Amino acid sequence: MNRARRPLIAGNWKMNLGGPEAIELAEALVKASKPCANVDVVICPPFTALAAVASEVDGTHVGLGAQNLHPKTSGAFTGEVSAPMLLAAGCQWVIVGHSERRQFFGDTDAFVAEKTQAAIAAKLAPIVCIGELEREREAGHTLQVLERQVNAVLAILAANPEAPMAIAYEPVWAIGTGKAATAADAEEAHAFVRKLLASASETLAARVRVLYGGSVTGANARELLACPNVDGALVGGASLTVEKFEPIFGAAHALTLS
Ligand code: PGA
Repeated sequence: MNRARRPLIAGNWKMNLGGPEAIELAEALVKASKPCANVDVVICPPFTALAAVASEVDGTHVGLGAQNLHPKTSGAFTGEVSAPMLLAAGCQWVIVGHSERRQFFGDTDAFVAEKTQAAIAAKLAPIVCIGELEREREAGHTLQVLERQVNAVLAILAANPEAPMAIAYEPVWAIGTGKAATAADAEEAHAFVRKLLASASETLAARVRVLYGGSVTGANARELLACPNVDGALVGGASLTVEKFEPIFGAAHALTLS
């Protein structure tokens, strides 16, 4: 963790908690995260819960994000949701290019770039997800994959270096498997991403928060977040209850005081 950047802990609820239980969790998280004033806590419920959760977190220190968007602002795109719609629902953030979208819904680097552009144009802060597959890591191609994925959005990010945004490094083999990257592997990837950002803009590299994602829990959060280039976490499974999520943003807050 680098003190110059405020830690960001984002919860990706995926296709869970779409109804009244979303409001309950949001309410509990607003209370639980109150003492963690040095950390940005963001929750990303499914689309159906966004508006209701927005009224729960409005005016609190908890931010709201969506999990996906369509790059066009409106039109004949059945089933899709645009950046202006997410803004109207109360979002400040949006996850873009999550590996599940890349794997199961055909999101390409080019489409991820379009979505990133649309988010920034609408003044929504993108959390752009990148990360290698297990076979790519085993073949020694991790940095090559990250370079390709970062380069797809680099010009867009560099054109808006002051805009709030984040990159989430999520090794695909670590997502939902209970097998997080080691702190050393995470730091290597994050430092590499920072170098790529710096090649386009020093301001960008200094400002963008690079989050780690993939089996983050209360047990490993402190070690991962202590790495100099890890500025926060994107948390899936462990963001679904206050008991599991609180130790993660709590660890981030404690590190800012240490
Ligand atoms: P996980 O998911 O924390 O359950 O591994 C992370 C993510 O997919 O963003």
